[in-house]
Amino acid sequence: MITLAVTAEGEGEPRVAISPETVKKFKALGMAVRIQAGAGARSHVSDDEFAEAGAEIVPDAKAALSGADIVLKVRRPPADEVAAMGAGTVLAAMLDPFGDRAGLEAIAEAGITAFAMELMPRITRAQSMDVLSSQSNLAGYKAVVDAAAMFDRAMPMMMTAAGTVPPARVFVMGAGVAGLQAIATARRLGAVVTATDVRPAAKEQVASLGAKFIAVEDEEFREAETAGGYAKEMSDEYKRKQAALVAEHVAGQDIVITTALIPGRPAPRLITADMVASMRSGAIIVDLAAERGGNCELTRPGETVTTDNGVTILAPLNIAGEVAVNASALYARNLLAFLTIMIDKDKGALAIDWDDEIVKGTLIARDGRIVHPMLTENEAGGAS
Ligand code: NAI
Repeated sequence: MITLAVTAEGEGEPRVAISPETVKKFKALGMAVRIQAGAGARSHVSDDEFAEAGAEIVPDAKAALSGADIVLKVRRPPADEVAAMGAGTVLAAMLDPFGDRAGLEAIAEAGITAFAMELMPRITRAQSMDVLSSQSNLAGYKAVVDAAAMFDRAMPMMMTAAGTVPPARVFVMGAGVAGLQAIATARRLGAVVTATDVRPAAKEQVASLGAKFIAVEDEEFREAETAGGYAKEMSDEYKRKQAALVAEHVAGQDIVITTALIPGRPAPRLITADMVASMRSGAIIVDLAAERGGNCELTRPGETVTTDNGVTILAPLNIAGEVAVNASALYARNLLAFLTIMIDKDKGALAIDWDDEIVKGTLIARDGRIVHPMLTENEAGGAS
């Protein structure tokens, strides 16, 4: 029988990689499920709820990991947990594949078969396994709610006997999964919303949510989307034209939510210090790209700063974790969908098809080595 283990996350991570719902489904697939006591506490799932769903609750990480065939985590496991996993253990987590290389090598050297959920290919069959989507969606929502809570004005237009309150102007930069949810949330709160992106496909999606699209729509823009649906790095010339357009627009905004990312690269700088200086006192920027350095020049990842001219810049590092209940439940479902393709239910054994596009796309370590092309290229080319 396959044994699946889940341990508690570290201090900065309130999410958990399994839910009572997925415990039941793993059991139905013929697996034994072990969960470290307290693992669900910060997502408001008690040990009793996990036990009722059929999991065995064990006192510590070591007891959970000993002899486990599969380990599910939200983040990269700490060194002591890696040491407690046997060679050949399957590990699925958001492993931060481009971060701390030494830690990644330690996972490989331990003989762990490691899957980085962030690298899930963007194909229809993998949609239910896409952790970036499930988590970014919640991040986009929470960014707007946090900005609204901090904003010293109202979001919707209000017509009162004492006069009219104007609606807030919200600008969303990057209209991917997070950005589109930010647009939808800001619209629900009654703001006047504009948005920008470098992918032409975003234009229609932005319009369908009732927001106005703002971008330099030249030849380069029309070709900016990769086959995988991600953005490309734009030319310096495009960046200059787009920056000029954005600079003018940003000056009149109350709230700016930035979400722009390019896979495997630092976040593009979209808001300069001068642009922040042009904004009015009380304006708010939420930089959702903070984890990858930020879209705003003045962003300090993990901190909230207020500039001399009264603009507050929020740079949360784990905003999906602030909606931990939903984030954990959706992440757990992503993992369930992913593992389901690797299990032979009749034999009660792991049956990994190493040629499957989904397996190949996410597998980063196997048999003691780092194997993902995006990571071995780095080794050869010396790029960081
Ligand atoms: P992301 O998180 O990598 O980037 C966020 C957004 O920033 C993207 O829309 C990107 O185009 C934009 N961006 C990058 N550089 C920019 C710049 N200089 N200025 C303005 N915007 C910039 O992307 P995300 O949100 O993960 O999704 C991108 C696309 O992939 C979406 O169209 C989404 O619908 C699609 N997708 C497909 C899936 C599937 O088929 N399985 C699953 C999830 C998303």
